[in-house]
Amino acid sequence: MINTALIAGARPNFIKIAALEKAFVASGHFKNLLIHTGQHYDARMSDIFFRQLGMPVPDMFLGVGSGSHAEQTAKVMMEIEKVFIDQKPDVVLVVGDVNSTVAAALTARKLHIPLVHVEAGLRSFDRSMPEEINRIVTDSISDYLYVSEPSGVKHLLAEGHSASSILLAGNVMIDSLRRFEKTAADTREHESRGLEDNKYFLITAHRPALVDDPENLSLFAESLLRLAELGPVVFPIHPRTAARLDDTATGRSLKKHPSVQLTEPIGYLEFLCLMMHAALIVTDSGGIQEETTALKKPCITIRPNTERPITIEQGTNELLPLDVEQILAAGKSALSGAWKKGSIPDLWDGKASDRIAAHLYEALS
Ligand code: UD1
Ligand code: UDP
Repeated sequence: MINTALIAGARPNFIKIAALEKAFVASGHFKNLLIHTGQHYDARMSDIFFRQLGMPVPDMFLGVGSGSHAEQTAKVMMEIEKVFIDQKPDVVLVVGDVNSTVAAALTARKLHIPLVHVEAGLRSFDRSMPEEINRIVTDSISDYLYVSEPSGVKHLLAEGHSASSILLAGNVMIDSLRRFEKTAADTREHESRGLEDNKYFLITAHRPALVDDPENLSLFAESLLRLAELGPVVFPIHPRTAARLDDTATGRSLKKHPSVQLTEPIGYLEFLCLMMHAALIVTDSGGIQEETTALKKPCITIRPNTERPITIEQGTNELLPLDVEQILAAGKSALSGAWKKGSIPDLWDGKASDRIAAHLYEALS
């Protein structure tokens, strides 16, 4: 058995680790040590995912919580180093691009523990994003690089990684989506909220560039007020954004608008259901760009770039600037059904985690 430390810290990590944890157990070759860093800790940002995704209770909870980038990264490193020294895993697996990812990766590398990065190679080429720094650093010190889309392989080869350390394995986030889409559909969450099929807009926003700048957040809120003239708007608010919405007049108006449902972050199953039935998803999320492509649902990503270009080239995602009129036009065209149809990328088939488990077992044996 290969003793494997699986690291999860933030909401998108849980969805990816759920798929990997299950595949590793099913392969019969891995003994998992599930470590939750505590980067996300609210019940609606953490516990609900473990419950809905059928994950085991973490073996270790580090409880690092929030803080500046340095504080959060350092706290994860200090706590996880003790666990690695004590538990001596044969291999450490990190996913995605959050602070917990890079912190666990650096710690494993310095203890000479083989390091696996799932969702390797993605690049926005925008170094003002904390995630881009986390991706570059994590990839640069990883031994095994599992990639979700072809652009990732190209970037890793260009950065000098050997072809033998890279596998285009597919998308583990879509493994969870395929596994749970039926259960998610059964929640009928849109009906519980009084929403008609393909008639409403589903919103998420949490990137610092969009929500930490009051002018941008205000413009975003104004775009949502305009979209609300076309149809109901559902906006489950990330805690980073919730903390700032009251600071702007348009944000306060959003809270009072009769066609806008502002809610706390919602569970994975209910959120999937809302995506399946929305006319358009408006987001700055990484994972949601992929999920909307897998579901073939219209999506606009309010960012100047994306590290997931396949969702634009092949999928149903479009990048838009923070421009009220362009966002409104996208809302109209999605409601009219005039959206590109898209197709599902290769290897986004619900089996990426199985491929990773099989390949990693071969590589480590
Ligand atoms: C983090 C990731 C981001 C990812 C996002 C997914 C980094 C640098 N950022 O951003 O890449 O897309 O998670 O959602 O790792 N807070 C709560 N409760 C919680 C968690 C956070 O109230 O359970 C609040 C705190 O005020 C905290 C703020 O949200 O300061 C931001 O949390 P943090 O984990 O630092 O970054 P995210 O914006 O969540
Ligand atoms: N998600 C959720 N509830 C919400 C908002 C998002 O379950 O209220 C899920 C979403 O389906 C996706 C994941 O959270 O699987 C994406 O996380 P997030 O946008 O926070 O992070 P990112 O992918 O941008 O790093």
